[in-house]
Amino acid sequence: MSALTKVETPITAQTVPAGAQYTNQTPWRVPSPDVSPGGVNPLRLILNSVGDRFRSLPGEIFEQDFYVRKLFGRTVLYVSSPALFEDVFKTRGELFYKGAVQRARAAPLVGDGLIIAEGESWKRQRRIIAPIFRPATIAGFTRQLIDTTSRSFAFAPGETQRNLDDTFDLLRHAVISSLETCLFKPQQKSRLHEFPSVVSYYYTKTAWLRLFAILGLSQNTPFPGRRRFHATAQSLRTIASQYIAERIAMGGLDEGDDLASMLINAQDGSGNPALDERGVLDSMMNLILGGYETTALAVTWALYALASDPQLQEAAIYEIDRVTKGGALTPEAIDQLDLIPRILSESMRTLPPIDELWREPKEALTLAGVDLKPGDLVNLNIMALHRRDDIWPDASRFDPNRFLPEMEKTRPPFAFSGFGGGQRFCVAESFARLNSNVTLAVLVKNMSFALASDEPVGIIGTQTLFPSCPVQLRATSRPH
Ligand code: HEM
Repeated sequence: MSALTKVETPITAQTVPAGAQYTNQTPWRVPSPDVSPGGVNPLRLILNSVGDRFRSLPGEIFEQDFYVRKLFGRTVLYVSSPALFEDVFKTRGELFYKGAVQRARAAPLVGDGLIIAEGESWKRQRRIIAPIFRPATIAGFTRQLIDTTSRSFAFAPGETQRNLDDTFDLLRHAVISSLETCLFKPQQKSRLHEFPSVVSYYYTKTAWLRLFAILGLSQNTPFPGRRRFHATAQSLRTIASQYIAERIAMGGLDEGDDLASMLINAQDGSGNPALDERGVLDSMMNLILGGYETTALAVTWALYALASDPQLQEAAIYEIDRVTKGGALTPEAIDQLDLIPRILSESMRTLPPIDELWREPKEALTLAGVDLKPGDLVNLNIMALHRRDDIWPDASRFDPNRFLPEMEKTRPPFAFSGFGGGQRFCVAESFARLNSNVTLAVLVKNMSFALASDEPVGIIGTQTLFPSCPVQLRATSRPH
């Protein structure tokens, strides 16, 4: 047996001294990306963009506010300081488009959905979708989320231990089930469970489209697997559109039943449907794509942190046993969580599911003293921003106490930008936080976790930020 697999007995509240708090004695150190010091050499950028895109990232931006690079006549400005993020997101947000790189990765799936829409189309969609994600509305889904997630991870009678051979994959399936519960009436079966495997393929191929956009090439440039890629995007849209057509045909939907009915029933100022069938489809694809892989990643890294740092895990268990008083997990108990939400914030700081955003200036302007013109690119590097030792001391140390209210006050605005910022801030942040809190709480309530492999898990940059190998954990059932 390896040294890493020796935690075989469940951790219970009895093993944790009353009042135990997490004190960071042996913190977990998070993996770092394999960046390329010395900047991006164009050939290297091309070769690495379709594998691990971190290898083409200039390492300098982890230590300085910006790094500028000329790429085939275009200026690419990488930024990693809170002040520059604030400038682009908020102060001069109106002067930037999301631009070609972000559009390239999402457009085949989400059409003109909220994530990439611009101008009037964006404003209109945001007005319709934002109210659906108000915290008060979202809170109504807590019970459903607890029940669905509990079913996804239920132990069979007599089963006490289980190897999770690919924790991220399990979580992707669990999160898609919980999204399904909130998006659609539970009694109507959708085919969303088919998404994770198909989306994985889609994502590996979007690396080409991202590269073409950075190089200023047409999105129709051929690449290996192009035909299958577009067929995949179409099949995902078909799954969702059949479902929406059925829902519209059912009629008589009650407002508040689920997110799909809220989208279908949304009205414009004159009482007409705000979204046509295609608009509902684009919005639905946005919500599924924006939401399921990102949430699964945040919880995967949080679980890996718990398995890597037994003291942290004990503190999380202590919190769960405190808020449930040894009983079932309820929406009220979820409301009282404090450490678990901070573990997830620290997971999203250290290993942000969306680690880079791109923008393009609408007009000539100067940013960080660098002259930019339309067609130039700004890379808002969330990963580098979140790993700056001058903002996050000893940045690779996993420490949820950084998100205690008194610590938050010590940092500049936009130091944490895991959900973006300004007017394009993640429209569903409250839902994402609720879903990830519930998922982690259900897991910690029912199981304890240990690493099941000696191989340290690294990170690679694909569409999002992926584990470099399957995250293998051993889950042991906790007594109720
Ligand atoms: C941990 C989970 C999540 C993370 C880390 C995350 C992160 C982000 C980030 C960084 C942005 C800003 C993009 C930009 O400025 O270019 C964003 C926007 C967005 N997110 Fe999320 N997100 C998460 C969950 C969700 C969920 C659950 C949904 C939907 C159900 C969602 C839907 C969206 C949409 C529609 C936008 C575009 C908003 C706009 O442009 O107006 N996200 N998200």
